Amino acid sequence: MDTILVFDFGGQTAQLIARRIRDLGVYSLVVAGDVPLKQVITPEVRGCILSGSPFSVYQEQAPVPDQNIYSLDIPILGICYGFQRMVYDLKGKVEGSQTREFGRAPLKIHDSSDLFHGMPESFMSWMSHGDSITQLPEGFGLLASSEHHPAAAFRRSNRLYGIQFHPEVTHCEYGTDILKNFAFRICGAEPRWNMDVYLQQTAEELRARVGERDVLLLISGGVDSTVTAALLLEALEHRQVHLLYIDTGLMRKDETKEVTGILNLLGAEHIHLVDASEEFLSALQGVSDPEEKRRIIGDLFIRVQEKEVKRLGIDSAFLAQGTLYTDMIESGKGVGNKATVIKSHHNVRSPLVEEKRRKGLVLEPLASLYKDEVRRLGTALGVPAQIIHRHPFPGPGLGVRILGEVTREKCDILREADDLFIRELKRRNLYDKIWQAFCVLLPVRSVGVTGDSRGYGWVVALRAITSMDGMTADVYPFETVDILDISARITNTVPEIGRVVYDISSKPPATIEWE
Ligand code: XMP
Repeated sequence: MDTILVFDFGGQTAQLIARRIRDLGVYSLVVAGDVPLKQVITPEVRGCILSGSPFSVYQEQAPVPDQNIYSLDIPILGICYGFQRMVYDLKGKVEGSQTREFGRAPLKIHDSSDLFHGMPESFMSWMSHGDSITQLPEGFGLLASSEHHPAAAFRRSNRLYGIQFHPEVTHCEYGTDILKNFAFRICGAEPRWNMDVYLQQTAEELRARVGERDVLLLISGGVDSTVTAALLLEALEHRQVHLLYIDTGLMRKDETKEVTGILNLLGAEHIHLVDASEEFLSALQGVSDPEEKRRIIGDLFIRVQEKEVKRLGIDSAFLAQGTLYTDMIESGKGVGNKATVIKSHHNVRSPLVEEKRRKGLVLEPLASLYKDEVRRLGTALGVPAQIIHRHPFPGPGLGVRILGEVTREKCDILREADDLFIRELKRRNLYDKIWQAFCVLLPVRSVGVTGDSRGYGWVVALRAITSMDGMTADVYPFETVDILDISARITNTVPEIGRVVYDISSKPPATIEWE
């Protein structure tokens, strides 16, 4: 399939470039900026994009691409640092400029024959750079300029293109059209990337790799593991697919019932339900330190998982995981030896996974997809909308939403309040506008009055945030009437709760979860 590679030099929007290209229907992959070309250039690669970077080209640690990239027989587009890199490597001049350009900047187009085809003579671009190009290498011709930056866009023949601004950012007018012109007009890529094609290809690959063996998948009830299950059930014989669901006692209300119902609907034959709630809750008895709780839950999860795999006699099965493209990148696995590991995911680190990985028995059929592509794939596979659009739920579950010691009684109280909160959001058509919403049970009780008597109930905090990816978050701005009404419903329905508060902290400085 026609592919456009994005060479990641560490710029914040490298991911976004690949996202935008895929939205155009062209497959795009992010690779390390310094990857040797022979590892990534295949006949399917139609073009390359060099991303931005926090570095300046003349800094010692600045990332440098394989220098053969400039003589490839396919078009290359440098964006910001990517452009400066191209100029610098081809013996032009890049210097720290007097006027740094950040934000919106009017662009004047001088040549609209290819990259700027179909666009007006001037429009707003979006800049974010301190360095500027002061001398172009031989053979480059001007395509566009901005007020402070006469060299905003250049081209050498129809192979090397460079732009100083960021077309991938939504604030850049005609940004998508610029990427579209690059992908279709300049690279000649065909828009063949969609979820039906992906489904067909992946199903064939899974069948070829798995053969007659069994596959084990751990189900959490979230979007990723459920879509992975649906994909396995579509690709393989149902008898080959073993789904293991561990009830830790820290799940949401009716979660186990709901998830198994959906798996049945998808045709699963082997659903292994393990009720380990007693084990988890006794291990957590008397523990109130958040990190200790996480450790206990994580370790026990692995132990229960290993015990079950032995009991089921499927030690030699493949292990499937719902790892996404962003998980791979965040764990530093997707883009070569990129240094920063932003978040290490516990599913990637477990000993069972590591052992299976050593033996070549790990399947990660979603590993090249973004979250919204997984949602589209799920829809194509018939996964019901209530799962597809579910808010994220952390691995340790209610364990990190009950501050202080976790008990079954507290889990039950929190489950009721949380269920009510979520149902109210759905009833008010707010659920899909919010990225994640949940209740937190605080380790304090407070005095109240119900009828003529004194109450002494628990305090629950409501959390509702908007976010792109969970890395940063804004507080959801409820209408006052909604939040007051929801609060009253919780205290009227759950007698153990005497008071409701609303968490108005963004991330940063607060995290989304309270522990
Ligand atoms: P924080 O609290 O770090 O959360 O702002 C960001 C996102 O990650 C989820 N989260 C977790 N997910 N295991 C998970 O699988 C965990 O230990 C964990 N902790 C937080 C959180 O719900 C939010 O979506």
